[in-house]
Amino acid sequence: MQPIIEFLIFGMKPAESIPLNKSGIFFLHIMGDGSIKVSIIGAGNVGATAAFILLQKRIADEIVMVDVSEAAIGKALDMMACAPLVPFDTTITGTTDYSGIRDSSVVLITAGLARMPGMSREDLLEKNRQIIASVSQKIREYASQSIVIVVTNPLDVMAYAAWKETGFPKSRVMGMAGVLDSARLRAFIAAELRVSPGSVKGMVLGSHGDTMVPLPELTTVNGKPITQLLSREKIDALIKRTQNAGGEIVNYLKTGSAYYSPAASAVAMIEAIAKDKKEILPCSVYAEGEYGLNGVFVGLPAVLGKKGIEKIAEIPLSPETKALLERSAKAALEGIKQLSC
Ligand code: LAC
Repeated sequence: MQPIIEFLIFGMKPAESIPLNKSGIFFLHIMGDGSIKVSIIGAGNVGATAAFILLQKRIADEIVMVDVSEAAIGKALDMMACAPLVPFDTTITGTTDYSGIRDSSVVLITAGLARMPGMSREDLLEKNRQIIASVSQKIREYASQSIVIVVTNPLDVMAYAAWKETGFPKSRVMGMAGVLDSARLRAFIAAELRVSPGSVKGMVLGSHGDTMVPLPELTTVNGKPITQLLSREKIDALIKRTQNAGGEIVNYLKTGSAYYSPAASAVAMIEAIAKDKKEILPCSVYAEGEYGLNGVFVGLPAVLGKKGIEKIAEIPLSPETKALLERSAKAALEGIKQLSC
């Protein structure tokens, strides 16, 4: 982003930095301190979909997709042509060169192998650990001030690996999973009750796996707890479906895993950071005593703003839920122990 500032200083405005506003008057697209550059590592299904949602929501000033494959360049060109139609002013580029991520505000890591039918998220551990290690080195080199969001599975373990390998403070490394798990539960509840999905609020904590911890007592529809709207059996069935939702999709797709909802979930996190919303979202974060958990990345309610994880919110949990959360954190810790970093 530095070069753009220099252009402005010297009065030379690159064409892409002077879009028209609604009344047709030229205004400067202010780059520099206030601008948001999002880099996406991996231009596969999750990465490219995240880029496209970011463009549609006009959250970033600049998006860069990096991939070992030149498909990143092709996909970026394809998206660029949508600019006058959607419309958006965001600059979107694709590259195979990691220096493209220089000075990013946020780096989204989607690179890695995806699950195939019959595979658990944990089956991906060793291969994806190597990918995370090399990507983290590049982030350290080119985007040392960025906030890193990991989507690669097994999620909590890979978030831990990225934190270790980048050496970034814990406030700047997080994993995307709780937003996705919560969205799935909210969508299933909305479909069951035939209400607007936006009216369903709820949070799923814990590790992104079979041990994830939905909080039925804190899940509401227009403010009313679902425990007053649905039978215990129905709630249990919806929770079970949420816990298996990733696998259910893998079984249908056959050649990969879900991507629309993981991408939309990552974008929700990027939006909270980019707009400094201080929004509480369930994210995989490094716990140091919160909820009695230590030395592990696990899904907890995090306050997201421009500094990344600004706080871990302490929500009062029932003793049963706390026990489930501890069990889930233990599962993530087992994966972390298998890492050599
Ligand atoms: C899923 C993958 C992204 O839950 O873990 O669909």
